[in-house]
Amino acid sequence: MYQTFEELKESIKDCKKCKLCNNRNNIVFGSGNENADIMFIGEGPGADEDIQGKPFVGKAGKLMNCAFEGIGINREEVYIANIVKCRPPSNRNPEKDEVEACLDYLRNQVLLVKPKIIVLLGSVALKAILGEEYSITKSRGKWIEKKGIKYMPTFHPAALLRDSQKKIYFWNDLKEVKKAIL
Ligand code: URA
Repeated sequence: MYQTFEELKESIKDCKKCKLCNNRNNIVFGSGNENADIMFIGEGPGADEDIQGKPFVGKAGKLMNCAFEGIGINREEVYIANIVKCRPPSNRNPEKDEVEACLDYLRNQVLLVKPKIIVLLGSVALKAILGEEYSITKSRGKWIEKKGIKYMPTFHPAALLRDSQKKIYFWNDLKEVKKAIL
């Protein structure tokens, strides 16, 4: 494990630990406040993120920004990262070997940020972090505490773009997060 973000970022910059390196334009490491109380974890970069090298800058990210604004979460104050740092082709889910290859980077990010709360965005993040036995529909909106960190699983913002009925649940889950940090 690296003791600073500089060292960690240096260690990832030519990463070839999995096949996702073959098609990437940019590694999407993470963004935001490196001392944040709240960390958001998504699945993996999409096309826009791969081009810009930043997480959640495409359609799903814009929807997340709207929720942040409405609820009073400042995007600059939180830290945002993904399970895998390189874009899976055609936005497919990352495969098990890709998640395993990449997860140590995220573990190191969590150790450095030391968030009080981690919001898990969607099933891929939930299962990779808390275990395969968790289901997003059953777990969303419920706090899960492990090793001094409070986890809030919620829907992935891309799921809200496909089914707008999910928006209210996402909003409510983020309101719980905001309340917990006040
Ligand atoms: N979806 C994710 O899971 N992460 C991003 O950074 C963008 C879209």
